[in-house]
Amino acid sequence: MKRLSFLLMLSLLMLACTKQQVPSPDKSLQVFFRLTEDGAPQYSVTQDGMTVLDWSQLGLVSADQDLTRGFKLLRTTTSSFQETWETVWGEERTITDNHRELKVSLQHLSGLRMDIIFCAFNDGFAFRYAFPEASDQSLVITDEATEYRFAANHEAWSIPWRTEYYEGLWTKAPLSEKVDTLCSPITIERADGGYAFVHEAALTDYPAQNLYMQDGALRTYLTPWLEDGKPTPIKAYVTLPFATPWRMVILTRDLKAMVASRIMLNLNEPCRIEDTSWIRPMKFIGIWWGMHMKSMTWEQGPIHGATTENMARYLRFAKDHNIQAVLAEGWNKGWEDWQHFSFTEPYDDWDMDYLSRLADSLGVQIIGHNETGGNAADYEDVLDEAYAYHQAHGIHAIKTGYVAPIIRTKDGLQWNKGQSGVRHYRKVIETAAKYHIAIDNHEPVMPTGLQRTYPNLMSQEGVRGQEWNAWSQDGGSPCEHVTVLPFTRIMAGPVDYTPGVFAFENPVMPGTCVHSTLANQLGLFVCFYSPLQMACDLPENYLKHPEAFRFIEEVPCDWERSELVDGRIGDFCIFARQERGTARWFIGGINDEQEREVTIPLSMLKPDKTYRAHIWHDSDDADWQTNPYGLVIEQREITSIDTLRLRMASGGGLAIAIEE
Ligand code: NOJ
Repeated sequence: MKRLSFLLMLSLLMLACTKQQVPSPDKSLQVFFRLTEDGAPQYSVTQDGMTVLDWSQLGLVSADQDLTRGFKLLRTTTSSFQETWETVWGEERTITDNHRELKVSLQHLSGLRMDIIFCAFNDGFAFRYAFPEASDQSLVITDEATEYRFAANHEAWSIPWRTEYYEGLWTKAPLSEKVDTLCSPITIERADGGYAFVHEAALTDYPAQNLYMQDGALRTYLTPWLEDGKPTPIKAYVTLPFATPWRMVILTRDLKAMVASRIMLNLNEPCRIEDTSWIRPMKFIGIWWGMHMKSMTWEQGPIHGATTENMARYLRFAKDHNIQAVLAEGWNKGWEDWQHFSFTEPYDDWDMDYLSRLADSLGVQIIGHNETGGNAADYEDVLDEAYAYHQAHGIHAIKTGYVAPIIRTKDGLQWNKGQSGVRHYRKVIETAAKYHIAIDNHEPVMPTGLQRTYPNLMSQEGVRGQEWNAWSQDGGSPCEHVTVLPFTRIMAGPVDYTPGVFAFENPVMPGTCVHSTLANQLGLFVCFYSPLQMACDLPENYLKHPEAFRFIEEVPCDWERSELVDGRIGDFCIFARQERGTARWFIGGINDEQEREVTIPLSMLKPDKTYRAHIWHDSDDADWQTNPYGLVIEQREITSIDTLRLRMASGGGLAIAIEE
């Protein structure tokens, strides 16, 4: 009897200490799971046999339970998953999801059941916590213990977690020197030459993840609920059954593979919108830059931007130049105090009926604008009314805005990346879909791939965008900034950065300007992905450089396939993308302040075909400070075995359109 209970104890102990593991389909990556002696869940990860993440803590803390220890293992199950799905729009037409899953079913000493579901992909891994029991029980989450314990002190690119609207300059430093709490995502340049991208996927009803370094590990800090504008210990209210967003890490040996990873989209649920035919990628111009450059105003007055006359002119310009849509900001009442906006009442110098008929007759779309001034609560009250009004005027896309450091939701003053804000944004997307309206969300919560489920969530800001080059006190973003974004912020999803400045003088703030050449502005249209892509400058400035503008007329914003040709984070990048549904290719390059020559192999083209390349590149004397307009436009016959050698100036770039 004694011997039997000893064996039972031993096997229970073995089960408790057993290491479970799940390999990626190509076996290069292994995710390990274990329970420590006190029942604390942990994971570690190897790639090519080397430890990339050491044993890292897992678990949550609720108001009345410590869910970081005291677990016993009930069972583990493994499965494989392989699927290729078609995107409604995107950087490529099809995406393959090939991964293995390990589900670890645990029971807490309190009796609560918790699963941890791990996914191992060839280019990274993910996991989430799930409470499977349909008990209607509620949990108040006060902390999440998830750690990412990288095995070395790598260099990391990040912005601090309280960066207003995520509009900051990304900085690089060894992980150990990152003293602030940081926003998710973080991009890591590994000491072994590989890369890591730490973020989350499918954030729909939970606070956004932030990260901070403690005792050698990146740890999770969930955005708290606020009371009277001040942080509380509460992070999330959840009702069972419930699953958290995915915690994900892209792990690749090179930068090209990191950029090509589609783990985040694969971790989101498939499309929930049945008829997506009304969701169309579009280039647009807008009554917008004028306000940022102070030659126009949002509110009605002598230099009001959104007048019927101006809009009619913009719509006709768009029609003549292959631009599918025009945004108008300041068309509606409320800009006097930025607080009490109406989304159905235009100012009296804006004739909505006439303009919607004109747009329709020209075959150009109007993009609506709903700035809320951060008053999300009032906006929710009128969502249906507002979207019905826009739909009735043929409007299929709205740019939303939440200018306020703390927004007001139905739950009072809250951070927009807290659970309440996250719920609001989802409600907006779901309601908009009912009225066939796509959203371009400014002042958002950081994207996490929700556009797979709701492809009407087309673009988002959450970036220090072009507008900073109009009015920023610090002179404008340094050249390096744009060469960091494709590897950091834009890895999280499409960005409404608004490229395309063609006038580099700034009469209102002479010390501030766009740190770029014309060729750089063109290159951004390929390097920065957005299915709603704004050419931000005024029509009159485009008419001064018609040959340069031809590239913007030609470049699409929906792709068959995309690849990073070459690049280094913070130095330069070159992307090549094939237009969706055609044989045309577009290549864009953007550079930091260090001029350089780049080589572009054309092996992406079909062999045995001759192509014509239209090339826009910096002239020999181009330089963002001394000659930003220096641009050469030339044509060359090319084939797939050719290599282009081009110079990018300081703050320069290149743009190439290739046709058979
Ligand atoms: C900030 C947005 O980023 C900008 O694009 C917009 O013009 C203003 N808010 C006004 O809504």
